[in-house]
Amino acid sequence: MSDKMEVYYFSPTGGTKKVSGIFAAAVGKEAVWHDLGDKQTVIEQPQGELIAVAAPVFAGRIPSVVREKIKMLCGEGKKAVAIAVYGNRAYEDALLEMNDILMQAGFTVIAAAAFVAQHSIVPEVGAGRPDAEDEKEIRAFAEAVKNSTSAENIHVPGNRPYRPGMNVQVTPLSLPSCTACGACAKICPTDAIANEDGKMATDAAKCILCMACVHACPLQARILPPPLQQKTDNMLAAFRDIRNKNEVFL
Ligand SMILES: Cc1cc2nc3c(=O)[nH]c(=O)nc-3n(C[C@H](O)[C@H](O)[C@H](O)COP(=O)(O)O)c2cc1C
Repeated sequence: MSDKMEVYYFSPTGGTKKVSGIFAAAVGKEAVWHDLGDKQTVIEQPQGELIAVAAPVFAGRIPSVVREKIKMLCGEGKKAVAIAVYGNRAYEDALLEMNDILMQAGFTVIAAAAFVAQHSIVPEVGAGRPDAEDEKEIRAFAEAVKNSTSAENIHVPGNRPYRPGMNVQVTPLSLPSCTACGACAKICPTDAIANEDGKMATDAAKCILCMACVHACPLQARILPPPLQQKTDNMLAAFRDIRNKNEVFL
């Protein structure tokens, strides 16, 4: 195999990038990074023999931006590793969906994994992850990928039809302290935010609730509407005190 590995990733709040960074460094090949959340650039086709795709789990599925962009990749004769990064609740059909798309695109999916990162809506869930223990497991997975001679597709858990995707008609909002600097609009992967008469307006039909804008706001002036934050906090309360596991498929 060539000494390059292309990594296609989406990481609105940094957890997926952290996991894929640990993974890529441990594979030991030169990593070529493709940000699936970058709306300015057209996603390039893979040049090398091996790619990794890393995506956060949204409601047990992969985010629509990832789905639409990885469908466009040409994988004939190439190998792929699928990585789902979830917030300590569950990854449900996300890995299966990712594997299905990659196989349909012609890739042989030689390995897959679900790793835990801090929950991007409720940071007390999976707090501080990936931590040192996770790092060890991510590196061991990378080592196995590095040494793999497999030419077979692996099997991963999940159900078809997949769970229904997210359908929340609510978006993050800007507080009065917002100065309309535009950082949120710039980072938004779906172009859902625009400056309208000096105020940041969000298009609910385009927003995927990825939290990139909340994470990017330099003034912490972007938040989830309090009722939705409260509802999510309550829904995830049971996952604060448990340590969910990383799972690898080789
Ligand atoms: C809209 C949304 C839905 C999510 N759904 C799930 C889920 O179904 N299961 C889960 O364990 N974590 C879920 N999470 C948490 C993320 O998968 C997790 O925090 C991930 O690490 C975020 O990646 P990032 O830091 O690269 O943005 C969700 C987060 C968001 C924003």
